[in-house]
Amino acid sequence: MTLRDGRTVVLRPIVPGDAPALAEAIREADPATLRRRFLGAPPPVTDRLLRHLTSVDYARRLALVGLDPDSGRGIAIARYEPVDEQTAEVAVAVDPAWRREGLATAMVKLLARAALERGYRTFTATYLADNRPVEALVSVSDGHQRIKQGLAEAAVALQHALVAQRDPDTERSGRMP
Ligand SMILES: CC(C)(COP(=O)(O)OP(=O)(O)OC[C@H]1O[C@@H](n2cnc3c(N)ncnc32)[C@H](O)[C@@H]1OP(=O)(O)O)[C@@H](O)C(=O)NCCC(=O)NCCS
Repeated sequence: MTLRDGRTVVLRPIVPGDAPALAEAIREADPATLRRRFLGAPPPVTDRLLRHLTSVDYARRLALVGLDPDSGRGIAIARYEPVDEQTAEVAVAVDPAWRREGLATAMVKLLARAALERGYRTFTATYLADNRPVEALVSVSDGHQRIKQGLAEAAVALQHALVAQRDPDTERSGRMP
């Protein structure tokens, strides 16, 4: 996809071979990003965790990575994980140098479309209540939000989110294999 500032990002589903790059990205991420992504201290980066994060079935569990086409370096990751039959929890992280250009929005939209095609109806997101960027990201459409002990939970109906946010980029590339 092309970002608002003209830079290009390659988006693709995650594969098990992404594990070393993901380990490095978690190791090198700044504390604020880790705190917001993992809602506190990040878990220890074990082989088991990396296998879990990079080996998905592309249906009930799906993750996308964003790569800088020049360096091949991973600069974004977004995923959904099942909560129940029709509900999945979404999480996303973007490298600080690539933020505010619409990348997280585009990745969440791709995931939303894929999830809808795979039988999900709702995305939930859990995030620190002071996380304004992600609050803006998920408070689209008819979503609702609940805040408890510093954690916010939001729920968004996928159908509504996609209809409300449909754009040409998503139309072109929204289907996952
Ligand atoms: C949250 C995060 C993924 C957003 O990534 P991004 O690519 O910058 O998001 P987008 O460019 O799609 O921005 C979406 C909207 O969020 C809001 N937003 C983004 N950054 C913001 C900021 N610093 N302050 C206020 N609003 C912000 C804006 O409304 C923005 O839309 P706009 O740029 O059209 O105004 C990124 O900030 C991040 O990786 N944070 C750390 C990890 C995290 O918090 N993950 C979420 C918990 S699972």
